[in-house]
Amino acid sequence: SLRQQVDETLCPFKLSQEQLQLVKARMRAGLEAGLKTKGSSAIKMLPSYVYRTPDGTEHGKYLALDLGGTNFRAMMVNFKRQNARLYHKIYTIPLEIMQGTGEELFDHIAQCVSDFLDYMGMKNAHLPAGFTFSFPCEQTAIDTGTLVSWTKGYKATDCEGHDVVSMLREAIKRRNNNATFDLDIVAVVNDTVGTMMSCAYEDPQCEIGLIAGTGTNVCYMEEKKEVDAELSKMCINTEWGGLGDDGSLDDIITPYDMEVNQNSINPGRQRFEKLTSGMYLGEIVRQVLLDLTRGGLLFRGHVTETLKTPGIFETKYLSQIESDRLALLQVRSILQQLGLKGTCDDSIIVKEVCGAVSRRAAQLCGAGMAAVVDKIRENRGLDHLNITVGVDGALYKLHPHFSRVLKDTTEVLAPQCNVTFLPSEEGSGKGAALISAVARQMHG
Ligand code: BG6
Ligand code: GLC
Repeated sequence: SLRQQVDETLCPFKLSQEQLQLVKARMRAGLEAGLKTKGSSAIKMLPSYVYRTPDGTEHGKYLALDLGGTNFRAMMVNFKRQNARLYHKIYTIPLEIMQGTGEELFDHIAQCVSDFLDYMGMKNAHLPAGFTFSFPCEQTAIDTGTLVSWTKGYKATDCEGHDVVSMLREAIKRRNNNATFDLDIVAVVNDTVGTMMSCAYEDPQCEIGLIAGTGTNVCYMEEKKEVDAELSKMCINTEWGGLGDDGSLDDIITPYDMEVNQNSINPGRQRFEKLTSGMYLGEIVRQVLLDLTRGGLLFRGHVTETLKTPGIFETKYLSQIESDRLALLQVRSILQQLGLKGTCDDSIIVKEVCGAVSRRAAQLCGAGMAAVVDKIRENRGLDHLNITVGVDGALYKLHPHFSRVLKDTTEVLAPQCNVTFLPSEEGSGKGAALISAVARQMHG
């Protein structure tokens, strides 16, 4: 029957407790391997040169730039006695810039910064700036970061292997012939780290940062035993999206995931990210719908051009389709807006497909999170750990069920930890500004 066939199609997305335990174990092994073998493992475990979370003494005015999520944001933050005032402006990064030359990309960023400084009337201010750059960077100090490889939708040329801070400085210099402004870039920061810092400003128990958005990633405060010194900490940007790049997730990867991976701009890479983040979930859904339609189970067997179009299911549509407050007729009308004409029965199936794909994503993130919190707990030799995770990203914030499933899964898989998820309020820019403040204090 139709029901049976749909169930069979969705079956590989339903993960058992045992499978989730396995994912947790593999994440744990991946984290450990990454810490041991610098750079060569699936999970990169990149040092951030951030040694502590904020303590409330941070003060002054900072600029923050935030590249790598859905939008580019420029921000001015003023810290005063446990209080932060923020001003920001959002800019879009057109696809042709994301995938053009590195020079064009950084020229565009410099242009946005210039516009923002004009808008704030601060062209001559010469503020210290923090640069949130949400891609894997090999850092040797707080203010240098070599791009290891682009992820998500970016593939600008001549950037990989180069220091992104230098590239930004050079782009500003290139402009300076016509419009003078100066930036003192004091920190380059992954969005996870910025998010953790920004949430830690509100909650000192926050020692993990999580992004569930276009991409997915986690950072956490790692204990290090320095040679004959007491314990010291450093925040590690895990780049956990790379789990599975060595084949360790092959047993849970479905043919639909393989298709999405093959069609992506970085086949074979970011396999965990491709199962769990906003940029890919809609594509997985589309692959399943294509298969069901070809099998005559959906849309009267008509494979339309729309259904063959990559990227039609953005996270926001998934979130709408899965909202329980929406009647089926409304789901049907969303599908219609997307160019997919179907019956109410079709809408039921589409909603089920979305549910199976997003639920698996949240469970996998939960399994990964369980590995991270248990690692921290064991590092500290504790039977029980209370910890807060600062979170950002459209999938976490806009999806109707993702956050709950994530929390439930983490709870079940890490019963010795009490994990609080704290949504970040102003994005990671505030965190980048805090890191700049801390970096400045350290250098006097
Ligand atoms: C923003 C952060 O709020 O969330 C960014 O400031 C981050 O640094 C982003 O990349 C992630 O969300 P999304 O959903 O836009 O990828
Ligand atoms: C991708 C990037 C990572 C970032 C994440 C969330 O996984 O590689 O650096 O933190 O997306 O934006």
